[in-house]
Order: sequence, then C-alpha cells, then structure tokens
Amino acid sequence: VIPAKIIAAKRDSAELSDAEIAYFVQGFAEDKIPDYQMSALAMAIYLNGMSDRETATLTQQMLDSGTRLSWPDEGAPCVDKHSTGGVGDKVSIPLAPLLACCGLHVPMLSGRGLGATGGTLDKLESIPGFRTNLSLAEIHSLTKQVGCVITGASAELAPADRRLYALRDVTATVPSIPLITASIMSKKLAESLDALVLDVKFGSGAFMKTRERATELAQSHVRTGQRMGVHTTALLTDMNQPLGHMCGNANEILESIDILKGDGPDDVRELTLALAAELLVSTGIETDSTAAVRLAQQRLDDGSAYEKYQQMIVAQGGNPDAVLKLAVTHDVLAAQAGVVSAIDTEQLGTAVIVMGGGRRSMSDVIDPSVGIRMCVRLGDRVNQGQLLAQMFTHQPDQPALLVRQAIVISKSGMVANLIVGRITS
Ligand code: URA
Repeated sequence: VIPAKIIAAKRDSAELSDAEIAYFVQGFAEDKIPDYQMSALAMAIYLNGMSDRETATLTQQMLDSGTRLSWPDEGAPCVDKHSTGGVGDKVSIPLAPLLACCGLHVPMLSGRGLGATGGTLDKLESIPGFRTNLSLAEIHSLTKQVGCVITGASAELAPADRRLYALRDVTATVPSIPLITASIMSKKLAESLDALVLDVKFGSGAFMKTRERATELAQSHVRTGQRMGVHTTALLTDMNQPLGHMCGNANEILESIDILKGDGPDDVRELTLALAAELLVSTGIETDSTAAVRLAQQRLDDGSAYEKYQQMIVAQGGNPDAVLKLAVTHDVLAAQAGVVSAIDTEQLGTAVIVMGGGRRSMSDVIDPSVGIRMCVRLGDRVNQGQLLAQMFTHQPDQPALLVRQAIVISKSGMVANLIVGRITS
C-alpha cells in the first residue's frame, strides 16, 4: 500500500475502504506513517468529509490504538457524558455524582479549558488536593468503590487521537465533523460504556456557532456511537449566554455544590436533570423521562447527590470542606436602560482568561479565585446603573471593558430556550 495513494483518494473525494483507514491509523500509531502524511490526510478529510461508515472505522481504529477500560463482573451500567464545551458549563461536576447515586457507574473522562471555554479538570483542581490524573487501575477501583470519578484521559486510552489532535491543532484541521467525532468518540468508547449522552452546544459561546452545524455534529456523534454498539443520544443546547451565573473555576465549584444541594440556578439544574434522564432511560434504570427526572430530582433534593460528591472528592485526594476563596468583587453596571438583547459569550470567556482564570499558553497556571458572576440573562429588562455582572478579579480594568462590551443592551430582546432539540439517530 502506498500512503500517498490513500491521501490522493480522499483528496479526490473518494470513500476510503476500512482496510485503507486501518492501514493509515495503525501505521501512524506505530510511527510508520510520518506526521506530514497524517496531516495531509487530515486536511483532505477536513475538505471532503467522510461517510458514516468511514467515520465509524476511523473511530474504531483510534480506539484500537490503545487500551480500553473493562468492567468484568459489573452489575451497574456504565455511562458518561460529553459536552462540546461552553462558558459556565459546570454540569459534569454535579452530574457524575448524581448518576452514581441513581445506580450507574460513571468513569467520567474530562478535559481542560479549550479556547474561551473552561475545563472541568481545571475547575475541580480549585479544590485543594484533588487529583485529576488517576491511573487506569484507580479509575477502575474508585468507580467500583464510589460509583464515579472525574479524571483526565490517561495516555493509554486512544493514543493515536492524542497525537492526531496535536497535529490538527497546528494544521488548521480541528473543525472537521468526522475528525472531531473520531477524536471524542474514541476516547469515550475506550471507557466501555453502556450509554453515552452528548450535550452539543451552539451559539456565541460554543465551538459550533450555528444550530445547523451543531445538529450535524450531534448526528455524527450519535450515529457513530450507535454503530459501535453504545446507546448514544444528544441534546442540542443554547450557548448564547453563559450557563448558570458563575464563570471561572472556584466559583463554578461553589455553584455546582448549590446544584448538588438542590439549589442553584434553574438552567444548570434543568440541564443536569435532562442529561441525567437521558442516561437513566438509555440504561433502563427508568422507563421514561418523566420518571427519570423525578428520580434525579429526589437525589438532588434529599442530599444524597451531595454526599456522593463529597465521597468522590475525598477518594480523589481532595478536601471537600476546604473554603474556596474568591478574589475581591468589582461591579459592572449598565450604561443605559433597555433589554439584554445579545451576549458575546465567548468574550466573557476571554475576560476570565484575561483575569488569569484560563490559559493563554500551555504552561500558564490558573488562578482559581477569579471569574464572573452574571446578574442578567437574555431578555432581562435593565435600568441605567443596574448591576449586569460582578467580576472576581485582581486586575479589573481590561476585563471590565470586555464584560461591558459583551453584554448588549437594546430596545428589545428575547429570552432564549436552553434545550432546543434531542438527537437520537
Ligand atoms: N476536543 C478533542 O478532544 N478533540 C476534538 O477533535 C475537538 C475537541
């Protein structure tokens, strides 16, 4: 087989055979195909796409480049959630313990901040002592013992993806639906799941700016998961404003704890319950979504989800009683009266990075104490001088400008629905 012929076939929009995809990915994983040929194939895929079959084969090959978790003698169904990322999206933190106390096992693999969006691992590291680098053996034993973990993907899972993602990052080939699908799904399927739910976001704070592109991405993930034998569904959710009030790190942990205690902002609770319900129904723990939401609500409101969260934090070396300090607050006030008509959510994420709450380069150390508390939502009527947001920051000037510009006040504006669709095939 000549690698350049496979690249040429995809360059000319042909469908690759399973054998051709296997040859290329295995060769890349074994260092027989050099980075420049893998990058050229990635660009050809970016430009010409892949069929569902090709995408599933690519996913399978990336998965086969590493080890998989295995759950022999396991009673409880094993599940996870993936979110495409958004500003203020802290849902994984309450969701994993909530699912664990509804009878599911959740070996959740999470990521760090990407672009302007925060990362679950960075947020959890606000908790003193909490470890996000569990070994495969620890993922197994703690999931069995506690019911859930939240950790980074270990290097043994889908190593071909790790290397390909690094190449895509520097060759302008990240935003390709088949490549994103194979990347995300290979890591998730390496957990040997029974069911997976995806939260695919669109809007000003999301990777996919339009609902149409988000729908395409969701369909690609769902079809690939189902082809590979995992019950996969997706919710399409609006990211034209931050989720909840808090954007940052330690402040998002505090808001997650509110959710785990049955309080917290309505939108975060709604999405946490809806994602939980998808998995409770997919695994047959509940027969319909009304009953599933009811069960999940009970577990939040009776304190059992919070108790499970504390167990998870302790099991991963963290101190759940540590006081999480926030930086001093600075108010951002409305310059004029009107209605909040648009929010540049990505710019709010950038403001958090400018405060020190995210990374500009890989080596940056995150300051967990900084962030934003949003005090308005789309469609809210505001008076001149009314509080729009509070910043927790040591250096308010530049972030204040970004936050003020990001919240657009006009004569009219509309409220936005959070969950706008559900994709099952
Ligand atoms: N994150 C990943 O891990 N892979 C992608 O392709 C995109 C985001």
